[in-house]
Amino acid sequence: MSGLCKLATEKKMAFEASLERFMKCGCGLCGTCAMDPTGDLVCIDGPVFKGNQLERITEFGKYHRDSMGLKKEC
Ligand code: FES
Repeated sequence: MSGLCKLATEKKMAFEASLERFMKCGCGLCGTCAMDPTGDLVCIDGPVFKGNQLERITEFGKYHRDSMGLKKEC
């Protein structure tokens, strides 16, 4: 998905992606689904993010978080 986002950016094409994260509250209270470094919450700001939003999310395509919130390399 990250590769497609990079390709779409290179080709100046519109791109959207539906992201998945472990969610505990699902309503913006716990922060479990926050994306680094923007702090966008997948549960209320997403799950669909546009290409310009994805470009600012540095963890996109690099790591994910497990159910305990620990970083896991992709
Ligand atoms: S699941 Fe709790 S803030 Fe998103």
